Amino acid sequence: MIQLSGVSYSYGEGDVLSQIDIAIPRGEAVAIIGPNGCGKSTLLKLLNGIVLPREGRYVFDGEEVSAARLNQPLFAKRFHQRIGFLFQNSDAQLFCPVVHDEIAFGPRQMGLSEEAVDRRVEDCLQLLGIGKLRSRVPYHLSEGEKRKVALASVLALNPEVLVLDEPMNGLDPRMKHFLREIILSLNESGKTILCSTHDFKYIDGVFRTALVLGEDHRVARSGPYHEIIHDKTFLRAQNIL
Ligand SMILES: Nc1ncnc2c1ncn2[C@@H]1O[C@H](COP(=O)(O)OP(=O)(O)OP(=O)(O)O)[C@@H](O)[C@H]1O
Ligand SMILES: [Mg+2]
Repeated sequence: MIQLSGVSYSYGEGDVLSQIDIAIPRGEAVAIIGPNGCGKSTLLKLLNGIVLPREGRYVFDGEEVSAARLNQPLFAKRFHQRIGFLFQNSDAQLFCPVVHDEIAFGPRQMGLSEEAVDRRVEDCLQLLGIGKLRSRVPYHLSEGEKRKVALASVLALNPEVLVLDEPMNGLDPRMKHFLREIILSLNESGKTILCSTHDFKYIDGVFRTALVLGEDHRVARSGPYHEIIHDKTFLRAQNIL
């Protein structure tokens, strides 16, 4: 479903992603792990087409994701519908004056009828238990509330692939448990999940695979989640524990 071959990326000085090779099959649940600044968010942005490889290739479901392709409106629209991205910083995600419109934005872009849009918005509000926020101003919400609205706006597109950048950030313990259940059930329904996180306690049992990025911005290790997460010596050496 997702394949990176020899991908490097730089914001200007020095690579923040270096020679990344990954292949993620459809339906997989992958945790992206690594110390602060190793490039997790950059990798997730690249998977979402927000930044493009300086070197190497990104292939999504058999098609290369390149500047030329993303400049084709039909390709870009379809791509952004199939892969949803929850930003690490919700303020970067929310831009509408009302919560309802924020969640309705994606479905409207997809060309759904207003009736179908409303149904999707209500479903997402109910799923995340935030019905009472529907008329609020996103900018005025608490951090946790913003995160739930941002997640609702991603789920409203019903994407096949969910890219979540530290989704547990700012959530209270009850909501973290709840979000874990949501991620599990989305994965069980066949969605591919990629998620960066430091919240190992709350995501136990969600991921089959872990991808560890090192401070040198390369893949330090990838493999079965449980093997990696229980290898304390390795995690300490990577400055993760
Ligand atoms: N827009 C930008 N311009 C310049 N440098 C950037 C930009 N965004 C990120 N960086 C740098 O790229 C490196 C990787 O950043 P990134 O946000 O991908 O790390 P991360 O692994 O997600 O870290 P964290 O765990 O703190 O979220 C960091 O050194 C960061 O300072
Ligand atoms: Mg990050």
